[in-house]
Amino acid sequence: MDATTSEFFSEQFAEAKLDSKLSRSETEARWIAEQIPGERILDLGCGRGRVAIPLASMGKSVTGLDSNPDYLEVARKRSAEAGVEIDWRCMSDTELEDESRFDGVISLFTSFGYHSDAVNREVLARVARSLRPQGVLVLEIQNRDAPRTFEESVSEEITSSGQRIEKRYVFDPRTSRRFMTFSYHERDRSHGVGSLDYRLYSVHEMLGLLEEAGFEKMELHGNARGLAYDPLGEHVVYMGSKR
Ligand SMILES: C[S@@+](CC[C@H](N)C(=O)[O-])C[C@H]1O[C@@H](n2cnc3c(N)ncnc32)[C@H](O)[C@@H]1O
Repeated sequence: MDATTSEFFSEQFAEAKLDSKLSRSETEARWIAEQIPGERILDLGCGRGRVAIPLASMGKSVTGLDSNPDYLEVARKRSAEAGVEIDWRCMSDTELEDESRFDGVISLFTSFGYHSDAVNREVLARVARSLRPQGVLVLEIQNRDAPRTFEESVSEEITSSGQRIEKRYVFDPRTSRRFMTFSYHERDRSHGVGSLDYRLYSVHEMLGLLEEAGFEKMELHGNARGLAYDPLGEHVVYMGSKR
């Protein structure tokens, strides 16, 4: 994991943005289990195992891949506490090599798009190759067409632990990349800044890339809990199967 990415995906980010979504993980796991016939599921960019762990508790055979060793250490502890076994893999999605093994690959809460266009494309090809024929992809990413994409914004969020996060977003239409900077403050003392940019894809662009990577029968959803697709919604879930 390069230094910029690991700085952004910090402990503070995980507490504020990932652990805060733990309450919906069970619902997401249930919805995903309904969409994927078969046992072997790869969670790509699994973070601290927010959804991988409930999926394993449902009897799925789960592999959790993330390039952040600190997140995987927490994931390992949490899966042990939950009494489930998961094949945790600390590696980049650019190194994914399993051939035709998985019944399903999931990638949730925008864990895709951090590379250049060419490498993002290569990751989709690797994902397709890791699936067995008719294996299912569930890919949730931010929707480029949502109005907020184009707003240059600075906003503040106070987390449940009292931490203040200042979030800055800037979108560059020439590259379709969104730049974000999160600054963390506690009792007005700064304790960390992380910046990262990622590619935002429009629906028609993403559908083209997925077809090129070898997917068919694509469906669109609004989130991984069964919300209907909204062309202006914040997220899109792309679901389809490997040809
Ligand atoms: C926004 S978080 C989402 C985590 C998790 N999917 C969830 O919903 O809780 C994005 C995750 O992608 C991981 N990530 C970023 N770049 C990656 C890469 N090149 N290969 C694998 N994981 C990566 C980060 O470490 C982080 O855990």
